[in-house]
Amino acid sequence: MGKDVIVACDFSSGIATLEFLDKFTGRKPFVKIGMELYYAEGPAIVREIKSRGHKIFLDLKLHDIPNTVKKAMAVLSNLDVDICNLHAAGTTAMMTAALEGLTRPDGTRPLLIAVTQLTSTDQESMERDLLINEPMEKVVMHYAMTAKEAGLDGVVCSPREAEAVHTACGRGFLTVTPGVRFADGDAGDQKRVMTPEQAKAIGSDYIVVGRPITASADPVAAYERCCAEFIG
Ligand code: C5P
Repeated sequence: MGKDVIVACDFSSGIATLEFLDKFTGRKPFVKIGMELYYAEGPAIVREIKSRGHKIFLDLKLHDIPNTVKKAMAVLSNLDVDICNLHAAGTTAMMTAALEGLTRPDGTRPLLIAVTQLTSTDQESMERDLLINEPMEKVVMHYAMTAKEAGLDGVVCSPREAEAVHTACGRGFLTVTPGVRFADGDAGDQKRVMTPEQAKAIGSDYIVVGRPITASADPVAAYERCCAEFIG
């Protein structure tokens, strides 16, 4: 899979999601399904969106004991999603088990990427609540390297970390980056944003874009603009 724009479908119901996706009569966007929609609608919404011809990043961020994650990943693999994810904090043993669970009898599997430190965690809360006293950048890079060593395909990271991740883990290690805004757009609650063009220049492999597309008056035009700026 090459560079692509992934649309974060942060809707609370299947009806709202499908109404939104119905607007795309040409190119079918790669869709991110998060916890809210998945827990509301279950695997049926994944099957429905897949059957409409979309690729799917199922963003459920698994984190549990290795055996539980392995079995859960086997279920997600059967759903035929294209990307799934987990928390690198679950350790190498959990990531290795996840890959085993994800791999189908024929050897194929969805891509598996890791969340390093959530962007909602800052240095202070990491030190106070998690007792991790290293600098945030070092922690993020360490988690990325651990994910790479476990055999994962990449990480979700800030666009600002993408270059460093590629330097440390290799160009083939995928960086999936949210926090994207148009140059003339509203940043909303995202603090450190990049335009699709900037994300392209720093080598992001996939950008995850939500509100600049979902809240646009013309979502299809916003999506096409994103693709034009990021993919070219
Ligand atoms: O609407 P917006 O473009 O900000 O949506 C970004 C998407 O990426 C949301 O689904 C959000 O939960 C997700 N995300 C993020 N920052 C992270 C990880 C995921 O914004 N560090």
